[in-house]
Amino acid sequence: MKITVIGAGAVGATTADNIARKNFAEEVILLDIKEGFAEGKAQDMMQTAALLGFDTKIKGVTNDYLQTAGSSIAVITSGIPRKPGMTREELIGTNANIVKGVVDNLVKYSPDIIIIVVSNPMDTMTYLAYKSSGLPKNRIIGMGGALDSSRFKYQLANKLNASPGDLNAIVIGGHGDTTMIPLINKATWNSIPVKDFLEENEKEEIVQKTMVGGATLTALIGTSAWYAPGAATAAMVESIALNQNKLFTASVYLEGELDESDICIGVPVIINKNGWDKVVPIQLDEEEKAKFKASATAVRAMNAVLTESNII
Ligand code: NAI
Ligand code: 2OP
Repeated sequence: MKITVIGAGAVGATTADNIARKNFAEEVILLDIKEGFAEGKAQDMMQTAALLGFDTKIKGVTNDYLQTAGSSIAVITSGIPRKPGMTREELIGTNANIVKGVVDNLVKYSPDIIIIVVSNPMDTMTYLAYKSSGLPKNRIIGMGGALDSSRFKYQLANKLNASPGDLNAIVIGGHGDTTMIPLINKATWNSIPVKDFLEENEKEEIVQKTMVGGATLTALIGTSAWYAPGAATAAMVESIALNQNKLFTASVYLEGELDESDICIGVPVIINKNGWDKVVPIQLDEEEKAKFKASATAVRAMNAVLTESNII
């Protein structure tokens, strides 16, 4: 199987690295617009193959989409971070034009491709990829919930002094500090509700820390995170490639699920060889429903920039 990763920056390179280490793909094409950058990163990663024992071939290319032809899956991480003085609309406009161009090229050379969108603002970029690609909705997936859910498990594990792998917890809604919804009352520790072990203030603290997980790291590192984003993206790629039917929360195009339509936003889905196969029905309580509705309203406001700027 051939997999393309667009953007050889922090998240793109880490995604390619994780895919290669898992050793399920024949080839990973790493593409960046910066001359020689992807080639260098790919060569560096290939020099770990003997040490780590993988056979996946990582090839770096500079903006050469012919090399991506016949890819089964692509990950889009290309974009720019918000710069001082830049409005949110300007950032969306810049990244939207990058993502749209990338999607056009991917579909041109790999019409059967499944696309995972990582670039921010992710829910809006996923919506744009769906609208501009002409691909069936199941082949466009936004990565955010997989990362946020892993961060949620990290916070729960710290508080409960538990093994992160023993925790079952998901985050739905938009991939943003104020739009994501960690479902703490549904989270379990090997089937036991975590709420049985936590005071109200502790639950609130875990939820808050999860919601600002990305911003906390950006403040500490000076740029946004890449290890967990790369690992989360590679896990989704693996579930598609190996038809694992894993349940992730991911941003997908809704047509009535959870009472929302014409929006890409995080919901629980099954990820397999078809892309996202179905939205897993989830019973939300009244408070969770209200939060989901507010989250969708915020994501829609961001999507509106796409039409106001004549991008779609
Ligand atoms: P980065 O700046 O390290 O890498 C971005 C790369 O994209 C650069 O190497 C740049 O040359 C390349 N690029 C720009 N325009 C391009 C084009 N037209 N074609 C191909 N390559 C192009 O950024 P980083 O840290 O890797 O983040 C990438 C994106 O992912 C950002 O938008 C970031 O906000 C987002 N992100 C999303 C997460 C999520 O959970 N959805 C988590 C972490 C980051
Ligand atoms: C993150 O959550 C900024 O989306 C990026 O780390």
